[in-house]
Amino acid sequence: MKNTLIAPSILAADFANLQRDIEMINNSEADWFHIDIMDGVFVPNISFGMPVLEAITKHTKKPIDVHLMIIDPDRYIKTFADLGANHLTVHYEACTHLHRTLQAIKAEGMLAGVAINPHTNVMLLEDVIKNIDIVCMMSVNPGFGGQSFIEHTYAKIKQLKEIITRNGASTLIEIDGGVTSKNAAQLVEAGADVLVAGNFVFKSENPTQTIIDLKKTASL
Ligand code: DX5
Ligand code: ZN
Repeated sequence: MKNTLIAPSILAADFANLQRDIEMINNSEADWFHIDIMDGVFVPNISFGMPVLEAITKHTKKPIDVHLMIIDPDRYIKTFADLGANHLTVHYEACTHLHRTLQAIKAEGMLAGVAINPHTNVMLLEDVIKNIDIVCMMSVNPGFGGQSFIEHTYAKIKQLKEIITRNGASTLIEIDGGVTSKNAAQLVEAGADVLVAGNFVFKSENPTQTIIDLKKTASL
């Protein structure tokens, strides 16, 4: 049985009760904390920044998966490492020298992730796939939680899986946006290893149980 990883997205948490929501994830079957950092330039929204991340990492007991939706992410690699990020994901569309950026992330001791927008062809990652620990495939346009899942994602996952296998890489495929128990099994069947879920978890009646159910549905 495949152990699909579940990464609840803090963007959908109750910011006035952040510690409560973090403890819920600590005590749940979730695997990672997914943290969305938005700059209002790369994406049309601003989420939260360093002081909030610093407060979060004081309480977290699971890996911190930081998803940077910012321009020129090289400026902040060291900052995020110092703040306790375990994985740092940058957007393909925001990096001029992606290979160099990936090296810099690894030099700080973090796993290196690359996120791709829905319009970005997975073939563009082939030449650096061996340098990527995690591909965060956006299944919505980045910037907001609670959007509907883009169906073309399944085809892209299959293509990416082929690239990973062909190159003998061990890259994880993470799916981000509109994940629910309705599409989870099909995503894993296509090749997904990690499912990010924001609204589906936090806006449910019983988030702890929702995580258990999602993990079960996604572990084929
Ligand atoms: C979107 C973010 C996602 C978002 C997912 O820009 O990258 O991580 O929080 O939220 P849901 O699961 O609600 O689509
Ligand atoms: Zn994200």
